[in-house]
Order: sequence, then structure tokens, then C-alpha cells
Amino acid sequence: MQRSGRTVECAKVDQNLLGKEITLTGWVNRRRDHGGLIFIDLRDRSGLMQLVFNPDFDKKTHELAHDLRSEDVIKVIGKVVKRSDETINKDLPTGELELQVENLEILNKAKTLPFMLEEAGNVDEELRLKYRYLDLRRPEMQHNFSLRHKVIFAIREFLNDHGFYDLETPILTKNTPEGAREFIVPSRVSKGSFYALPQSPQLYKQLLMASGFENYFQIARCFRDEDLRADRQPEFTQLDIEMSFINEHDVQSLTEQLYAFVWKKVFGKELSLPFERMTYDTAFCRYGSDKPDVRFNLPIHNIDALFKDSELKFLRAVLDKGGKIGAVAVHDHEFARSELDGMVGRAQTLGAKGLLWIRFKDGKADSPVSKFLPDNFLEQVQKIIPEANEKTTLFVVAGQYDEAWTILGRLRLLLADDLKLIPKDTFKFLWITDFPLFEYDKESKRWNAVHHPFTSPQEGWEQLEPKDMKARAYDLVLNGVELGGGSIRIHQAEMQDKVFDLLGLDKETAQKKFGFLLEAQQLGFPPHGGIAFGIDRFIMLLTNSKSIRDVIAFPKTARGFDPLMEGPTEVDNDQLREYGLKIMPSKK
Ligand code: AMO
Repeated sequence: MQRSGRTVECAKVDQNLLGKEITLTGWVNRRRDHGGLIFIDLRDRSGLMQLVFNPDFDKKTHELAHDLRSEDVIKVIGKVVKRSDETINKDLPTGELELQVENLEILNKAKTLPFMLEEAGNVDEELRLKYRYLDLRRPEMQHNFSLRHKVIFAIREFLNDHGFYDLETPILTKNTPEGAREFIVPSRVSKGSFYALPQSPQLYKQLLMASGFENYFQIARCFRDEDLRADRQPEFTQLDIEMSFINEHDVQSLTEQLYAFVWKKVFGKELSLPFERMTYDTAFCRYGSDKPDVRFNLPIHNIDALFKDSELKFLRAVLDKGGKIGAVAVHDHEFARSELDGMVGRAQTLGAKGLLWIRFKDGKADSPVSKFLPDNFLEQVQKIIPEANEKTTLFVVAGQYDEAWTILGRLRLLLADDLKLIPKDTFKFLWITDFPLFEYDKESKRWNAVHHPFTSPQEGWEQLEPKDMKARAYDLVLNGVELGGGSIRIHQAEMQDKVFDLLGLDKETAQKKFGFLLEAQQLGFPPHGGIAFGIDRFIMLLTNSKSIRDVIAFPKTARGFDPLMEGPTEVDNDQLREYGLKIMPSKK
């Protein structure tokens, strides 16, 4: 882009400009004094260019340069010259050139920064977030956001080419239960009533299908007042998609083409299609998770059969109570005894009540319970796990299926990390399909929707118990992270009524909360479905970032705090009165 204030970006200075007078602008990245000469690395968004100030050339400019400090913003005019052979920097695109500065203008003087940019990696994150604009100057961060921009741009391009409308939906809306807690917003003009910030544009996008738009998308901001983790923020961005007259395969196939397009556009590489597919039941049984990382194997084995007649009472008791015994088997690796004992404590931090390890020595089982294991234990194990050998170690967890397998799933990840089984720079997309429609919440003693209450059940559902009903829902998983989820929706009021009923929503409440949807479902609602992907999570994986915060320009801390603007803040009494609000003391 042409800018009247400068000729070219720093990293774009090339041989064609040799001998020419040009103007550059940017930040002082580094200053070095060599004898009489002063060297400055000038930085802008594109990269670096070396400036040289020579006292023989212009004394005043040289004197001014003497006072330059890191992060001063400057404008320089000078002649592009070749560097002497011994000062060529092969690591820089502009490493053979330098600018002999004739004129220097200091546009903004910088005080000493609260932290050195090149040491930001070791600085407390809250300080980095307080000075986020400085943190974002770092090349790693600039890279993250350049990639984010390219991905979003490619998404828009693909969806536009495929007949999708980019439509916005309200931010001030009514609360709709999608699982997470909502932020509520008071309003001066409607005291005592609150808007909710959208968890996602779910119901609006369905209504856009009722409007006949057929293909919709939005890069939508979503808000969830939930506990935060490394891959969660209270405010995040989704790519939200909805289509009518389609089935789950159409949504999945469009998704695959979309990701392949982005891959090609952004990385210039082909993505192998179709993505692997796995049912929810298989994923959980094999990996103890609905978002398994399949970059490595290490499956969970059901080893109930080994302990059916065991003298180990605690394992038999688990089986008698309808529980299960599962194991993760590590082959061809010798653990030290201290590592194995340490594993028990580590498993407890994953939620396990206990962990049993069994390895083999001279053909016999070696374990804290080895005296209760038969002599041919290895042989028996091999019937279930044919690869098992003298160098196999079993990590065993027993309990109710859901709980035991969840722990084994976490243990699997921990072991893979310890043993460095996860290949770097590998991206494994995986569809998880055939989710349960409902899950039972023991606390409230109610069925909840696994996806959301607007998800269509699979055919034949009415003949089944709620626990066995399956949803027309699917998730997309990338490297063990849930990237997106979607479903075919209910488009008929009778079915919606029945699902609300199973969720324990009586007719009156359903009408009050979702009357608008039930009505729309009776005024010409086409069959439809869609999906939404976490954009921040996707960029986090693509940039190999440890935290989602590294790919959001102004994120909140893990406590939901914004150290830069220092929000959220208290509101004074006058303002509270204006909104008709009163702060209650919090319950002890
Ligand atoms: P879901 O709740 O699964 O589906 O969200 C879709 C995707 O959004 C991302 N995501 C988040 N990213 C960062 N921080 C969070 N707190 C957070 N919560 C979710 C995840 C997730 O897979 N309305 C449905 C979609 C649909 O049915 O079309 C929905 O929002 O990557």
C-alpha cells in the first residue's frame, strides 16, 4: 500500500533501490555504537532494515541518533547502499543492504519499557496483558495475528464462493440455554429486565433458515461466563455456519472442503480428505474421550476378563458392582520403579482413586499385587493385547465405566507426553459422530442435552430410553482439541415439544422461553443444520501456541480480568440507581 509518509516497508528494501534515496518509518529495535558509527535496526510490521549514521556524513543527524533508545518511533531519509562484506547478515532478507541516513525525525520518544520485548516470554503474563500493545509488537505475536487474518480471509473467500451470506445477528439478546452460563446486561430503559449476551448465534441462525437464506455464515463473537482454561475465554470467536435442505454428510463435506481450501491458501499444502470418522461410543471406549488425540495410538483395553475369578477383592468388587477394569499398555519401554510409584500420585491428580501398575520380569508379573496374579498372566494378557511382551507395562484403573475410562483417557495423554509419542507438526482431523442425545445430571436429577435442545434425534429414538437415544450431532476434533460442533436441527414443533418434555421443560416454560421458535417451526421451517468452529482454538493449534490468549488481541486472564483496561469495574451508586440495580452481599 502506498503511504505518503514512507517509500517502502523495511523488509521490502531490495537491490532495485540501491543508490536511491528513500524514506522509512518504524521503531528502533536495537542500537549499536561502533567507533563513530551508529547502527540501528529499524523495525516495522514487515521486518528489519539496518540504518547507519555516520558523523562524517551529517553531524547533527548523528548527534540526534546518539540519543535514540529502543522503541522510539522514527522517520529517516537516506540512501540505500551495499553493506561491507564482513557486515552482511545472511539471516535477514535485507541483510546485504543498509540505509545511510541523511535525515532523522523522532516521531515519538519511548521511555524505558516495562519489559524488554525480546524477553517477554519470561515475563509474568498479567504484565504482558497490561501492556498488550507492547506485547503485540513482538514478531511471534505479529506472526500469530497475520496467520489469523489469512485464515479468516480464506474462510470468507471460500464461503462467498459457495453461496453463503455473511449475516450479523444481535449481541443484545435473550438468554437461551446452550449449556454454559450467560453474561446478562441491564438496561436503563427496561429496568428490572436483562438482555443476555449470546453464547452463540444458535437460534438466530436457525431463524435465518426460516427466512429462506439457505446458506449463512458469520465470524461471530460469543460470550460464556464459565470457568476458564488454557483453551477457553469468556469472549471468543466462532465461525458459525447454517444451511437448509441438507444432511449431516453435506455439512461434513463442506467443512472438509473449507479446511482443505484454507490449508492450501494459507500453507500452500494439500490436506488429505476425507477426515477420519469415529462414533462417540468407539472414541470413548478406545480413548476415554469424545475428543481423542489420534496422532498416536495407545488405546484403552478392557481387561475385565483377567480379573473375573481373581483373588484381588477390590477388583472383583468393582466388577460385581457393574464396573469395568481398563488398562493402557506401554510396550517396549522400561520404567524405573520410582517412575511407576510416582505414576500413582500423578493419576490421582487426574481424578483417579487409585492406579495399579503391572510389568513383567523373567516371564512373571511384577506389581505391588503380583502375588495375586497367576504365573501365566502374560499369556492371558496377550489374549486381549496381542502386542504385549516382557517389556510391557499395564496401567490399570477400575471403576464405573464413564469415570474409569475418563481417567484412563487422561492417563493416555500424560503417558504420550512423557514418552514423547506425539509427533510434532502433524495435524489429525477427526469427526466424532453419533453422540448421545442426552446426558443425565446426577445433581439436578435431570436429563440435559449433550449438544443443545434444538438438536434432532436419530431415527427410531422414540422407541428408546433417553440414555440410548442418539443425536444427529457431530464434532470436529483436531489433535485432541474440540474444534467445532454441530448438528441437524429439529424443524418440527411436535418433535421440539417432545424433546423439551424429556428435558423436563414444562409446556408453559417452553412457551415462555422458546415460543418464538415453536411458532416459527409451524410457519414454514425448512429442514436445516449447521456447525460452529472455534476460530481462536484453530489458530492456537496452527501456531502451536500454549494458550488461546496468544491468538486473541486483547484477551482476559484466567480469572476473566482485563489487566489493560482493568475491567470489570465497580459501578457507582448513581449509575446503579439509573439502572435500577442494587448490589447484594455475596453469600458466604
Ligand atoms: P459449541 O458450544 O460446541 O457449539 O461451540 C463451538 C466451538 O466453539 C469453541 N468454543 C470456545 N472457544 C473458546 N473459548 C470458549 N469458552 C469456547 N466455547 C466453545 C469450540 C467449540 O467446538 N451453537 C453450537 C454450534 C452449532 O450447533 O452449530 C455451539 O456453539 O471450538
